[in-house]
Amino acid sequence: MCGIVGYIGKQKASAIILEGLKRLEYRGYDSAGLAVQQNGRFGLVKKVGRVDNLIAQAAKARLTGTTGIGHTRWATHGGVTDANAHPHLSSDGKFALIHNGVIENYVSIKKFLLTKGYTFQSETDTEVLCNLIAYHYAKETEEEGTSRFLTSVRKTLHHAEGTYGIATMCTDCPAEIVAARKGSPLILGVGDNEYLLASDVSALISRTQNVVYLKDREIVHITARNFSISTLDQEDVAPVIDTVTWRVEDSDLGSSAHFMEKEIFEQPAALENTMRGRFSEDQSTANFGGLNLPPFEFRQIDRIHFCACGSAWHACLVTEHLIERFARMPVEVDYSSEFRYRNSPLPASTLFFIISQSGETIDSLAALREAKRKGYKVLTMVNVVGSTIAREADGGVYQHVGPEIGVASTKAFTSQLLLGAMLALYFARMRDMSYSDGVEYVQALKMAPELVRKVLEQAPHIREIARRYAHYKDFLFLGRLSLFPVALEGALKLKEISYIHAEGYPAAEMKHGPIALISEQCPSVFFAPAGEMFSKLVSSMQEIKARRGRIIAIVTEGCELPPGLADELILIPPCHEAVLPIVATVPVQLLSYYIAVELCRDVDKPRNLAKSVTVE
Ligand code: F6R
Repeated sequence: MCGIVGYIGKQKASAIILEGLKRLEYRGYDSAGLAVQQNGRFGLVKKVGRVDNLIAQAAKARLTGTTGIGHTRWATHGGVTDANAHPHLSSDGKFALIHNGVIENYVSIKKFLLTKGYTFQSETDTEVLCNLIAYHYAKETEEEGTSRFLTSVRKTLHHAEGTYGIATMCTDCPAEIVAARKGSPLILGVGDNEYLLASDVSALISRTQNVVYLKDREIVHITARNFSISTLDQEDVAPVIDTVTWRVEDSDLGSSAHFMEKEIFEQPAALENTMRGRFSEDQSTANFGGLNLPPFEFRQIDRIHFCACGSAWHACLVTEHLIERFARMPVEVDYSSEFRYRNSPLPASTLFFIISQSGETIDSLAALREAKRKGYKVLTMVNVVGSTIAREADGGVYQHVGPEIGVASTKAFTSQLLLGAMLALYFARMRDMSYSDGVEYVQALKMAPELVRKVLEQAPHIREIARRYAHYKDFLFLGRLSLFPVALEGALKLKEISYIHAEGYPAAEMKHGPIALISEQCPSVFFAPAGEMFSKLVSSMQEIKARRGRIIAIVTEGCELPPGLADELILIPPCHEAVLPIVATVPVQLLSYYIAVELCRDVDKPRNLAKSVTVE
């Protein structure tokens, strides 16, 4: 959840690290800091607040060194204070450390270190780890051919329980960084006479496209001239250098006011990229090269189990609906965080699917590992290429929507809906769906970008509605069938970026309890698309109206609502059932976004949140 950046090269490290931290800020934004090797000691600046705060402080500090590390924090252990911000220094001043993750046994290590005379300035687990490195370093003797610095980090990590992505420097080794990971992402960038480290490729791509994705329990030792990777158990690792395809412009704001706005409006292009090259030559089914699921193996599977968190979990619920409806296969959807501890009995013929934009969400990674441990085949739908979930799965599909920087998921969510619809088609065509129905389904999916474009044209109208409704304190989002999960997603979007209380419910379930909330003060966002449920949806709306509840109705063009039933109307174009969830999502993204803007919220970095939740 925190952002990590490191640099060794010929340039001023502070400028490069600060630029990297700016790009990583979405991973955590409580506080930020950096340390640079400077004439045998560390030049250290750390500050509560945003990276801009740190930039202002760093400008005064004259940091000229060419080796350094920096960090943006999402607090786990210890409050949001300057002292708790990273980097942390060991009490002898020899080591600086940044850390993403949680060291679970830090209390006992701290007790031990206190008896040895080490002192602590912060409440963090990270400072404990840093002092443990110093402790091991002090005990080590220099040996020919081995780095004392590396050995003491390795010894420290043998004692550390929990998760970490770390980068550390030692004043005795002015142009060296040692970094390691277990459970938290870490990537080495191999540049032109320089090396970079980051928890996310977006911090590297302005300087290099060549990267090495470190694996769990690997340590990289970087010097000004080269790097070497080994495991915690001292086995050498031959590095594999991958090329990143994301461009630096992809993570720039351009002319948009917020990344969330940019990403909402990017959706037509994102959907095109998700689909590109993924339909069969006869245009009757989907093609998924990376799924590693040959037809004879698919025939052994008779149920699918999805695991995910947050918006990705909502995408699983929509996909469940489509797979059951079109492929007639039973599907189960679990929160990753629940699945990993619930120990559910599952038939051997179950296929697992993990959906994760970042590919680093720790709960989803744990669910993947749990399913694999039990011998199930696990496939994934992931956006970030090379991420841990993508690498550990048996196969999967990439979303190809480029970096999603806004903390609230938008384009990644609709792309997950599209891939879910494509999976439903793929499985359906392997079972009973006819060729001609397949062709019709493919044609419908191909319309998705254009239909989304049409909804986006209504942005000014939705902005007006947002202005009228921004002062309400509670909202209900109501929908049925595949739009019930979209109602959940609408409620989540509104909650997370505007801090307004909102709940999503199946529309007909409302009368079993939530109807008690209905009043003039609690508007309902109501999905009422064309189809066989339309008249039932209208009846549910009447029940709201009868209790003086205000209604923002999202209705298919051409469907007539009784006069006066809806207070606000947002029209969506007619579309195929498989595309409907995508098209219906866009108005609630816009509505939430504009309400948050109206309330002057920090849309891209809402309070308490961070993109990519890499702690449990
Ligand atoms: C909500 C949101 C989160 C994520 C969730 C899972 O807008 O972004 O709920 O969907 O944290 O993240 P990934 O998909 O990266 O596993």
